[in-house]
Amino acid sequence: MSHEFAPRAGGGGIIADPATRPEAAAADAIVVFLTEGGVGAGAAAEVDRVTGGLITKLVAAGDVSGKRYECVPLLAAPGVAAGQLLVVGLGKRETVDAGVVYRAAATAARQLAGRPRSRVVFTAENWWSPRQVEQAVAGAAVGMVGQDLYRAEKRRTPFGSTVWLGASPEAVSTGGTIAAGVNLARRLVNTSPDDIYPQSFADEAAAVAGRTGMEIEIWDEDRLARERCQAILAVGRGSSRPPRLVLLRYRGGSRTTDAQPALALVGKGVTFDSGGLSLKPSDSMLTMKCDMAGGAAVLAAAATIAALRLPIDLVAAIGLAENMTGPAAYKLGDVITARSGTTIEVHNTDAEGRIVLADVLDVVRGLKPRRIVDAATLTGACMVALGHDVAGLFANDQPLCDDLAAAARAVGEAVWQLPMYPDYDDQITSDVADIKNVGDGRWGGAITAAKFLERFVGGIPWTHVDIAGPAFAEKPKPWTDGGGTGAMVRPFVELARGLR
Ligand code: BES
Ligand code: MN
Ligand code: ZN
Repeated sequence: MSHEFAPRAGGGGIIADPATRPEAAAADAIVVFLTEGGVGAGAAAEVDRVTGGLITKLVAAGDVSGKRYECVPLLAAPGVAAGQLLVVGLGKRETVDAGVVYRAAATAARQLAGRPRSRVVFTAENWWSPRQVEQAVAGAAVGMVGQDLYRAEKRRTPFGSTVWLGASPEAVSTGGTIAAGVNLARRLVNTSPDDIYPQSFADEAAAVAGRTGMEIEIWDEDRLARERCQAILAVGRGSSRPPRLVLLRYRGGSRTTDAQPALALVGKGVTFDSGGLSLKPSDSMLTMKCDMAGGAAVLAAAATIAALRLPIDLVAAIGLAENMTGPAAYKLGDVITARSGTTIEVHNTDAEGRIVLADVLDVVRGLKPRRIVDAATLTGACMVALGHDVAGLFANDQPLCDDLAAAARAVGEAVWQLPMYPDYDDQITSDVADIKNVGDGRWGGAITAAKFLERFVGGIPWTHVDIAGPAFAEKPKPWTDGGGTGAMVRPFVELARGLR
């Protein structure tokens, strides 16, 4: 079932072809990109020339605009070998960035994957940067994969092969590997929560680690108890499926065991969040299989970093628990002693992600990484603040936060930093313990959650990414079927590429 990171070069059936004449490419379909300014000088211009000005005529008639993500299929175009010529809009040239080409290529691939196609040719524009070419390649390989895990009749069929003209073999290979990461994260999020629970997530992680050359430790409930991870254990106690902690190591830098890792990635892996005894209403619970999306992003980014053989030492840690209401479930008023020794008074069992992460962050802190970045579907409040498509950033270290924001911008994912003023700390003080797991009332809830996490990073440079909004698309978009999006996989890989 899992084809991601299969031991095949290039990330799975994606080929770079140095040929320069798109019209001669034999294929089921050929995709050319068009900006709003007209045919310009790239593949669209070449196709326009051999077809006697077909695209120019359609633009003049108003049938093709080049507007962002517009897809116009032209069948049996004269002089074009491929059965279908798909003209895809990029919008105004000066606004094209890596995110635009990623989504434009994904839009084209998603549309073409509506029917089986054995060979689809894409054309990279010569004015795209190498990063943009990579992201376009990745977008095409993400867009052709749908949300079909449990459907007898698939709505999307991945292409037999994808050919990129005008792209370097390196860009194609890297783009294909990045897509494997994004598609892994999407598949894990889209998997039914009856099939993905802490142990089965850990099994998936072990399989991925084996395919990408990472070391893995899986802590079961006995090991968690020996490690004093009472916070993770408390959240997992209401479920018949016990919690796990997955610890991955990739040594691409020093290859010695005592070196300080350049980066630690930490993920929230709540495989289902019922809210626990502070039970969620049915409508809010429906999509809570997505509550392990941070863990999925961290696993997928680590696997991509390892598959790309980036020259850094990396650790990745994922806290896995199912938040349920079974007879042993943790209760309101419980006081938990987290691994760090900090005591937590439970005011709401639905604020479980921060409790799980308290222990995971402490485990990672003990490994002395130079920096920590965590991803978590942590708060509905972050969606109130920033909407569905923007991740919240929270940091104790501005340079790291700036680097992560720049990495997100470089690959076209939207993030926005929220403040961490010391005044918010007062909101999580408890009458009976060191801290409580919610703020006073719901205002600023994304920030009080981040403030809680900050207590467990021990002063190491750290940025928290709240992906409650962007991790999961409730409705389809032109470039993706709904469901898991793979949010933050590409930014994390991009961040790691800038580290030593
Ligand atoms: N997993 C949720 C946050 C969430 C909400 C993710 C919507 C994705 C979409 C988290 O565990 C949660 O329930 N948070 C509570 C915190 C509150 C009880 C302080 C919330 O946001 O309501
Ligand atoms: Mn919750
Ligand atoms: Zn949750």
